[in-house]
Amino acid sequence: MTQPAILVARAVFPETIAFLQQHFDVTHNQADEVWSRAELLQRLQGKVGVLTTGSERIDAELLAACPGLKLCANMAVGFNNFDVPAMTARGVLGTNTPDVLTETTADFGFALLMATARRIAESEHFLRAGKWNKWAIDMFAGAEVHGSTLGILGMGRIGQGIARRGAHGFGMNVIYHNRSRLSPALEAECKARYVAKDELLASADHLVLVLPYSAESHHAMGAAELAKMKPTATLVNIARGGIVDDAALARALQAKQIAAAGLDVFEGEPKVHPDLLACSNVVLTPHIASATVPTRRAMAQLAADNLVGYLVHGKPLTPLNPEVLKKK
Ligand code: GLV
Repeated sequence: MTQPAILVARAVFPETIAFLQQHFDVTHNQADEVWSRAELLQRLQGKVGVLTTGSERIDAELLAACPGLKLCANMAVGFNNFDVPAMTARGVLGTNTPDVLTETTADFGFALLMATARRIAESEHFLRAGKWNKWAIDMFAGAEVHGSTLGILGMGRIGQGIARRGAHGFGMNVIYHNRSRLSPALEAECKARYVAKDELLASADHLVLVLPYSAESHHAMGAAELAKMKPTATLVNIARGGIVDDAALARALQAKQIAAAGLDVFEGEPKVHPDLLACSNVVLTPHIASATVPTRRAMAQLAADNLVGYLVHGKPLTPLNPEVLKKK
């Protein structure tokens, strides 16, 4: 019996490929080549499923060119690379990888906050450059973390993980803003107080962005929002590029309108705005918030389980547009 054909668009763990090969005729990219859009479209011909990462855009044009496609399994919790309404219109299911990365990503958000507030990257560069020749009272003096006010914009699972770390681990006063308020029980557990966005901007000593990217959240942190922050504040973005206006942020950092920023995601990544690269008061990491080996394994397995669950058994684990299942 011929097996259904699927594409794995980027390199994954060898065991993920071996697992998928038990069920599918798998075309993979273990060489991790960067395919052009045309190459991706060509490789998708005849495939019923695809394992994507945030780098592959699934939109109406691609779906029209690949009429056999039934499932796009994103190996990420964010899915702004998917045009979900276009997928639903074509009866194509989308899945993502929630939950398995929550705590790891929250750990990283906190690590970036600490590195930014305590000037870890900047001081390490100074030391490596051989510039450390004497002690000084104000050398790399940063902002306090414990006991300070932690602001969180976007209070989903990862935001809540950061709130718990701040409140319970560092005695921080946690405030948040989100489209919808958490239940009183969750607010109590996270020790987090809901505030309006302007109050969040004005009061946070450290502001962490953890909201999904959408047309609504595009440039949610632009020049006007940055101007409302404290000059001593730090900003951390582990959400998506495009939520922060990177050019405006570079100007705010240069003008010391805010003290520092920690960024794991960028507009147009893997390119990084040259003005950000030129700022010393910014910690820059290459979109690695979920990058621990166990978590990346769990993400790959969940994406693969969605492919097998849906295409073999008709039951995906984490569907984004379950209305497609009802239509069938
Ligand atoms: C990473 O950015 C993800 O969305 O999982």
